Amino acid sequence: MRYLVTGAAGFIGSHLAEALQAAGHDVVGIDCFTDYYDPALKEENARGLDVRTLDLAEDELDFRGFDGVFHLAGQPGVRSFGDVFPVYLRRNVLASQRVFEAAARDRVRLIFASSSSVYGATERYPTPEDSPLQPLSPYGITKLACEQLAFAYAREFGLDCVVLRYFNAFGPRQRPDMAFTRIVNALAAGTTFELYGDGDQTRSWTYVSDVVAATIAAMDRGAGTYNVGGALEASLNETIAVLERISGRTLTVEPHPAVAGDQRRTSAETSRIEGLGWKPVVSLEDGLRAQWEWAATRVPLA
Ligand SMILES: NC(=O)c1ccc[n+]([C@@H]2O[C@H](COP(=O)([O-])OP(=O)(O)OC[C@H]3O[C@@H](n4cnc5c(N)ncnc54)[C@H](O)[C@@H]3O)[C@@H](O)[C@H]2O)c1
Repeated sequence: MRYLVTGAAGFIGSHLAEALQAAGHDVVGIDCFTDYYDPALKEENARGLDVRTLDLAEDELDFRGFDGVFHLAGQPGVRSFGDVFPVYLRRNVLASQRVFEAAARDRVRLIFASSSSVYGATERYPTPEDSPLQPLSPYGITKLACEQLAFAYAREFGLDCVVLRYFNAFGPRQRPDMAFTRIVNALAAGTTFELYGDGDQTRSWTYVSDVVAATIAAMDRGAGTYNVGGALEASLNETIAVLERISGRTLTVEPHPAVAGDQRRTSAETSRIEGLGWKPVVSLEDGLRAQWEWAATRVPLA
């Protein structure tokens, strides 16, 4: 098969493109190497992949000749109130609208990477896909807008689209703004970790190879909307304790107030995607060990 992966120089997109390539598919990546974090890290992620520099929000899109498009490009991060909002509108809503338009026109099947952030203030745990959608962050609102755009293109123009709501992904190459990367880097370098909130916020952490497997299963045989979440919900404090044990080091924590828009709890109900034969297979402990080992090879140990 010939696949297009948007956001292929990013954390999840680069793992997905590599997995598709390893399975024998022909893979073309698209990325505009935004400076949300150091583009040099993205260049490194893209090594060994055919990633073309293109801005989905403005460049011409032609999806003819592809069997499927994995649309992972976007502006992540819940710190999306204030002046940065236009960036979220452009990289999530506008870019995705242009991708949906082109995919519908060129009759190409599409996977859209949405987020557990669309659930926001919902209080059903574990959270099934048909829960009320009440995003707390502008980021979550742009992802919900993208989902709604995808449905509109499906209804009105026959877009063949599957929506995946990823819950916190982790593992090697995790974005530098995400908690585990900041923790393993602080442990390795002996620097301080800035903890936002009391650390008792919980997440359905999902190892990146499990995210990739779910994404490919959705392209192969999915229809509709699916949660993609790890089997175990754990608090940030619990994960810090595991990383301290694995690394044999003690984390120096600097407390800060919780970030506006951050959910207190995410917990994925995954029976729908398990119906596709998918289950998360990497434990939190094994995944954290892999992420620690990755960081320890990159950050000079103090
Ligand atoms: N990492 C997670 O835990 C998580 C959770 C939920 C949802 N998601 C979603 O999954 C996707 C991938 O997340 P990630 O953590 O790998 O993020 P990432 O920032 O590492 O990757 C996204 C990539 O998209 C590219 N991009 C942004 N705007 C673009 C544009 N207009 N044109 C072309 N490329 C553009 C960026 O340069 C970046 O390389 C995102 O859409 C994110 O919102 C991620």
